[in-house]
Amino acid sequence: MKMSLLARLKKKCRRALEWMKLQRESALDAHRYFCSASWAGPAKKHELTHIESDLIKHYHVLEKGLVMADFRPRSGVAILKRLIVLTSIWKDAGGDENEFHFQAALAVIKSYHRKHHNLNIDVSDLIPPGFCDEDEICKVDAGSKLPNEISADDLAKFDRFALSRHSVRQFSLDRVPEHALLTSAVEVAISAPSVCNRQTWRVHLYEGEAAQKMLSFQNGNRGFGHLIPTVAIVTSDMRLFGGGGERYQGWIEGGLFSMNFLLALHARGLSSVALNWSRLNKDDRLLRAAAKIPEHERIIMLIGCGYASEGHEVTCSPRSPVSQFIKWH
Ligand SMILES: Cc1cc2nc3c(=O)[nH]c(=O)nc-3n(C[C@H](O)[C@H](O)[C@H](O)COP(=O)(O)O)c2cc1C
Repeated sequence: MKMSLLARLKKKCRRALEWMKLQRESALDAHRYFCSASWAGPAKKHELTHIESDLIKHYHVLEKGLVMADFRPRSGVAILKRLIVLTSIWKDAGGDENEFHFQAALAVIKSYHRKHHNLNIDVSDLIPPGFCDEDEICKVDAGSKLPNEISADDLAKFDRFALSRHSVRQFSLDRVPEHALLTSAVEVAISAPSVCNRQTWRVHLYEGEAAQKMLSFQNGNRGFGHLIPTVAIVTSDMRLFGGGGERYQGWIEGGLFSMNFLLALHARGLSSVALNWSRLNKDDRLLRAAAKIPEHERIIMLIGCGYASEGHEVTCSPRSPVSQFIKWH
């Protein structure tokens, strides 16, 4: 049936309006990113975190150089020199010398020195003496190492384990996940990969009434939200990103972390359900205020968590045939 001219005009106007709304939401997302990430040097209010991000970026490039199959002695000199300067910038800006990534930077410099020393290659012109005192024990393991060993049996179990995870929507009301268990799940989830190992993930946890309050802002828990004892809000700290190219990195890494977290919960006998945060900025502002999430963190998703009630069922959530996902080139 042919559309009338008026109907076509209405459709065009509706599309134009939605396009404008989308532009506005994208601009608000970009604004939040712009105010948090580093651009052409650190912004005063985020200075230390921006320097920390730079420290990580630089020490990680050096770390990668140390594990290359064709390791080239004295490579990455410009990065090494900049890293040494950054350690001073960090201290001058009032950064804590016990801070994890500052210590990791020192450990990588020492590892660079040791690798060359073991090959009888002099790098004393590149590294000031204070950085390579072998008697001083590094507070952080950084540099290069042999990978962790894993048995063939462990490897074979992964498929069965991954396939046994399901979103659960029936939780036992009288068992709240123990803090130590949740902490250990986060400890494993942070093994997720991240760009230059910058680890921007943050997890905000809420229980009982506070969890219910958080769920009241989310639109996908109708019919089962009242049974969720613990809610995690996964965010990404955008201060550790820089420039326009990394504008979506928080969502990407937040997703990778969240998957790891869901599996880590599952491994501890805890059930979970991922809950979308596909919302407009006006809703984001409301949850952010109630959840006390700082402006520089991007909310990625919510995760409901608890012990599944006995005899609970899960959705089949059938997957399309694998051929649909793969295109060999
Ligand atoms: C980012 C994300 C957001 C989701 N949001 C919701 C939600 O709001 N409500 C809900 O009931 N399930 C939600 N789910 C769960 C999906 O429905 C579920 O993962 C999918 O059907 C596959 O089922 P499975 O997790 O049991 O394998 C979400 C999943 C993801 C990954």
